[in-house]
Amino acid sequence: MTTPKKLFIKTYGCQMNVYDSERMVEALGGEGYVETKTADDADMILLNTCHIREKAAEKVYSELGRLKPLKALNPDLKIGVAGCVAQAEGEEIMRRQPAVDLVVGPQSYHRLPQMEAKVRKGETALDTDFPEEDKFEHLKSRPQTKRAPAAFLTVQEGCDKFCAFCVVPYTRGAEVSRPATRVLDEARALVDRGVREVTLLGQNVNAYHGAGPKGDMTLAALVRELAKIDGLDRIRYTTSHPNDMEDDLIAAHGEVEALMPYLHLPVQSGSDHILKRMNRSHTAESYLRLIERIRTARPDILMSGDFIVGFPEESDADFEATMDLVREVRYGYAYSFKYSTRPGTPAAERALIPDDVANDRLQRLQALITQHQKEIQQSMVGRELSVLVEKSGRNPGQMLGKSEYLHAVHIDDAQAQIGDIVPVKVVKSMTNSLTARQIS
Ligand code: SAH
Ligand code: SF4
Ligand code: F3S
Repeated sequence: MTTPKKLFIKTYGCQMNVYDSERMVEALGGEGYVETKTADDADMILLNTCHIREKAAEKVYSELGRLKPLKALNPDLKIGVAGCVAQAEGEEIMRRQPAVDLVVGPQSYHRLPQMEAKVRKGETALDTDFPEEDKFEHLKSRPQTKRAPAAFLTVQEGCDKFCAFCVVPYTRGAEVSRPATRVLDEARALVDRGVREVTLLGQNVNAYHGAGPKGDMTLAALVRELAKIDGLDRIRYTTSHPNDMEDDLIAAHGEVEALMPYLHLPVQSGSDHILKRMNRSHTAESYLRLIERIRTARPDILMSGDFIVGFPEESDADFEATMDLVREVRYGYAYSFKYSTRPGTPAAERALIPDDVANDRLQRLQALITQHQKEIQQSMVGRELSVLVEKSGRNPGQMLGKSEYLHAVHIDDAQAQIGDIVPVKVVKSMTNSLTARQIS
């Protein structure tokens, strides 16, 4: 019997990368690899990278520099770069770091087994095509082993929106939806492996329009079909664009019990001037009205968002408009980033605003968001929530899971097992989690 080779995969960036990494482990599983949690004993190291901001891309090169000496210790070690930096920089990566054997873009993961064979022969392998064939169709089907109760499931990839700051349309290509029948099959297979919650993923997941048995299906239609699967109790989806938030999807939030009351709906800025310059094709007002409609359908929905501060031309008044929008929405979670110039995007040509101004705004916005986040979390104390138990906590008898609103919840003295969905009463709000006790 040959001993299995070991694969170490490190994932950066968004949830789509997390999902892709799982699929890459499965794809190389067929080539005799098992996953290892440390780089030191690996025969293959893959970095699944993110190119969204400058820092994210630079991290990859420093990590590669740290990994290089491992090759002296293990002459069989191969190093690969996958993900959005691979797509954006291609061959340049091998020039900048010759220790890299393999570079594979996000649309070509089904070709990994052939690429692996090539690097084993001592050659290098590069694939940053946007191939005709669907990578998911050609990836190995997923194994049957038991797995964690919450899973990601990619249903749509790519983006046609071309926000002026963003690399995603270039690194992930045009919007493509997976056929609904495939998604439903994969969801059923996940449920058979112990999954009770799926988060449907896409760069623009609510633009989903995958082929179904009776013609194209919207995301709302897909959600309704998924909700019929026995044992699939919770459905989420991310990330959505305000312009694709159609009536049927809003209605589903009020009607489909399995659809969790949480929505990540990035707006980026509260200033119409900046939104226009970002090529966002919606206004602050239209976004706020949209949230009103969503809250009418599902009053307790917890909103989450993304913001960019310090975008070129952002004035004090533009920034104050963002602060006003945040005050009006009151996000349960929100992520704010300082604008980072990405080569090749339209905004890259524009003059930056002073760095100290951008830093100051970022701090103020983050303080406001944190304040709302704390207040909303605090308002959960005394309430009954339902928690999907995902793992054991640090203290004996403690279990850890997620509420319907995606809050991390520690259950003390829990009777529940991993995979149970249990009612709890919240007793305390901590910095990034809630503490609760199980009620029955
Ligand atoms: N498709 C999603 C996510 C895109 S990337 C969407 O449309 O929302 C995640 C977040 O990164 C974005 O929402 C944006 O807030 C941020 N981001 C993207 N490009 C950026 C850049 N050049 N500088 C700073 N933040 C950026
Ligand atoms: Fe990037 Fe905009 Fe597409 Fe989101 S919608 S991935 S921010 S271009
Ligand atoms: Fe990053 Fe690519 Fe996701 S750039 S955010 S890993 S789509």
